[in-house]
Amino acid sequence: MVRAEDILPKYWYNIIPDLPKPLPPPRDPQGADFSRIDLLRSILPKEVLRQQFTIERYVRIPEEVRDRYLSIGRPTPLFRAKRLEEFLKTPAKIYFKFEGATPTGSHKINTAIPQAYFAKEEGIEHVVTETGAGQWGTAVALAASMYSMKSSIFMVKVSYEQKPMRRSIMQLYGAEVYASPTMLTDFGRKILEQNPQHPGSLGIAMSEAIEYALKNEFRYLVGSVLDVVLLHQSVIGQETIAQLDYLGEEADILIGCVGGGSNFGGFVYPFIGNKRGSKYIAVGSAEIPKFSKGEYKYDFPDSAGLLPLVKMITLGKDYVPPPIYAGGLRYHGVAPTLSLLMKEGIIEWKEYTEREIFEAAKIFMQTQGIVPAPESAHAIKAVIDEAILARKEDEKKVIVFNLSGHGLLDLSNYESMMKRWG
Ligand SMILES: Cc1ncc(COP(=O)(O)O)c(C=O)c1O
Repeated sequence: MVRAEDILPKYWYNIIPDLPKPLPPPRDPQGADFSRIDLLRSILPKEVLRQQFTIERYVRIPEEVRDRYLSIGRPTPLFRAKRLEEFLKTPAKIYFKFEGATPTGSHKINTAIPQAYFAKEEGIEHVVTETGAGQWGTAVALAASMYSMKSSIFMVKVSYEQKPMRRSIMQLYGAEVYASPTMLTDFGRKILEQNPQHPGSLGIAMSEAIEYALKNEFRYLVGSVLDVVLLHQSVIGQETIAQLDYLGEEADILIGCVGGGSNFGGFVYPFIGNKRGSKYIAVGSAEIPKFSKGEYKYDFPDSAGLLPLVKMITLGKDYVPPPIYAGGLRYHGVAPTLSLLMKEGIIEWKEYTEREIFEAAKIFMQTQGIVPAPESAHAIKAVIDEAILARKEDEKKVIVFNLSGHGLLDLSNYESMMKRWG
C-alpha cells in the first residue's frame, strides 16, 4: 500500500539553479526615490523573503506544513480521463492532477499555508492580500484562520460584484473583504479620483494590499508570479511524478494554464528539473494576450510599483482586462522563470478564446463530470487539441495536465458564456 505521506514530498523544488541561463534578478528602478528591494523586508514575512532569494535546489518543507498539507487532502488525486479519451477517439492517454480537491477548490492553498505559517512563526497577527476571481483570497482566508490570524482581502471590484459567493466564503473563514479600488489607501483614492467607476485590476488590488499592509505593519502574502510561490507549488509536480511512477507511466506532454504562472510552474518544473516529459505547453487567454502581445522586459508586478521590477513577459503594469471577459487569467505578467523558459523555447504556449475554452469545459463536464474552473478550462482546450493531433498522427502519447481548480463557484461565469453561446 502507498501511504499519502510517502507521495507527499519532503522538499519544495526550486528550478532556478537548473535554468538554462541565469535568471535576471529583481531590481530597483533607476534613480528611484526609495529601494523596493529594501521595502520587501517590511512587505513579506522574513522566511518567505529568504526563500524568494534562495539558490538551493531543494528547500525542506517544515513538518508542521506537511501535516497541514495532509490535512487538506494532499496528495491530490491523479485521475485518468478515460471517457474523454473515448469521446475524442484518441490513442493518447490523458491524466489530470486535480487541485480542485482542496477545501478552497484550487492550488492556491499550497502557498497560502506555508506563507501564513511563516508569518505566524514571526509573530504576525494580521495578513493582507489581493484577489481577482477569489480563489487566492479564499486560500489566504483559510490559511489565516488555521493560524488564528486576521486577514484583509482586496478583491477586484468587478469580481466583488459578480462573485458574491466567493466573498461569502472568505468572510465565513473570518476575512474582511474590500472592493478594490477602495478609499482605504492612497493608491486606491488616486485611481478613484481619476475614474470613480474604475472596475479594478489585479495590479491595483495588489498595490492596495501592499500599501495597507505597510501602513498597519501587517504582512502581505503573495499569490503568484514571485519565485517563492512557484517553489511552494512544486508539491503538485513532484506528487504527479510519484503517482505516474506508481502507475508505470511516463508523461510525454504536460499542460497547464497560466495566470501569473504559479500552478503551471508548480506542476511542470519538477518534470523539467528531472528531465521528464518532452513537450510543455503553457496556456493563456486570447483576450488577455500576454504571450502573443506581451513584451519581455523589466516591469512592476503591481500597478503602483511598490514591488521591485522583475523581468517578465508583460502587457504592462497598468493593463486593465476587458470587463465582460469571464475566463479568468487576467493578470498582466508571467512569472520571471516561466518567461525565461518560454523565451528559451523550452516551454511552448497557446492562447485560446473564451468561446473555445467554454466549449472545452462542456466536453470535460459531459465526459468527466467535474466542473472545471474557467482558468483550468484553458488547459483542457489544449489537451483536447493535443489528443486530436495524437489521433491524426496515430501516436500513443501520454498527456498529463493540471486541473488547477473546480468551477463550482464560477457558475456565474459559465452562465454569462451560456447566454452568449448556449
Ligand atoms: C483555479 C485557478 N487556476 C489558475 C489560476 C491562475 O493563476 P496561476 O497562474 O498563478 O496559477 C487561478 C488564479 O487565481 C485560479 O484561481
